[in-house]
Amino acid sequence: MSDAKISVTFEQDHDRLDALFHSFQEQKRKDFAKAKEAFVEFKIGLQRHIVWEEDVLFPKWEENSGMAEGGPTQVMRTEHQMIGQCLEAIHEKVQAQNPDSDREEQRLVEILKSHNMKEERILYPSIDQVISEAERAELYQAMKEIPEERYRTCCGSGHA
Ligand SMILES: [Fe+2]
Ligand SMILES: [Fe+2]
Repeated sequence: MSDAKISVTFEQDHDRLDALFHSFQEQKRKDFAKAKEAFVEFKIGLQRHIVWEEDVLFPKWEENSGMAEGGPTQVMRTEHQMIGQCLEAIHEKVQAQNPDSDREEQRLVEILKSHNMKEERILYPSIDQVISEAERAELYQAMKEIPEERYRTCCGSGHA
């Protein structure tokens, strides 16, 4: 991923996460163990994605654009909190082996859809515009260095 534009890498990660969530939804009333596997991978992946954005990407964009308070990254951070709450609501049902999380799933899908669209159409292209290639390499390096404990929590164990 180290040479790709930020917009390409992050859009691909959105798509990968969408597919995992879809597989959870597809499987949960057929093979719960399989569905749970997909959910755990989705949850950890989404948490990693959000940490990448909040700890690495957004601060860089705020620094280079001079826009922090009241800017788009602040809106994205608020939405991440809502996303996190929806994620936990589904997580609780998965832990209880309860597949009846359709309402919570629908809410998460709705928020994610508009959130990801805003990032893909506005924020990521703008980040690609304000950073140099050297800065981009630094961002990828910083993403790699984030300790797994920051995002690798699911189903009570602290591990997948
Ligand atoms: Fe985001
Ligand atoms: Fe994102």
